[in-house]
Amino acid sequence: MREVLVLHGPNLNLLGEREPGVYGSMSLAELDERLLKEGESLGMRVRSLQSNHEGELIEALQEARKWASGVVFNPGGYTHTSVALRDAVAAIDLPVVEVHLSNVHAREVFRQNSLIAPVCVGQVSGFGWRSYLLALQALKGFFENQEGEV
Ligand code: DQA
Repeated sequence: MREVLVLHGPNLNLLGEREPGVYGSMSLAELDERLLKEGESLGMRVRSLQSNHEGELIEALQEARKWASGVVFNPGGYTHTSVALRDAVAAIDLPVVEVHLSNVHAREVFRQNSLIAPVCVGQVSGFGWRSYLLALQALKGFFENQEGEV
C-alpha cells in the first residue's frame, strides 16, 4: 500500500461554512473521510492534515519525505504568494499534485498564478471536493507510469 499525504492549507478548516457558493457545503472532516475511502479503493493509505500556518505546512512536506510516496496539496491562498512552500515542494523529491476546489483560472487575476504548480507533477482545479478524488487518481496513475504499467 502506498502512503499518501493529503495536505490542506489555510482556511480549509472552514470548509462547508466558508463561501459555500465557491467552495461547496462539505465539511473538511467529511472530505477527509471520503479521501480515506477512495484511497483504500486505489490501494493507498491516506493521511490528512490541515494547517493555517506556512511553517507547519513546510514541516509537514519535509516530514512526508520519511513516510509518504506522494502528496495531494491544496495550498489555499499560499498558492499565489509562497516562495517558501514552492521551495519545500521542490526540495522533497516526491510527486505532488496541486489541487483546488474552485477553478482558480476563472477567478480574480491574483488567483490565476500559482507559484507551486510549476514544481508539481500537475494541477486539478475547479471540480469542488471531487478535485481531491481526481488528484488521488492522478497520483495513482503517476505511480503506475513510474512502474512501467500502461
Ligand atoms: C483554493 C483557491 C485559493 O485561491 C484560495 O485562496 C483558497 C482555496 C481552492 O481550493 O479553490 O483558499 O485553494
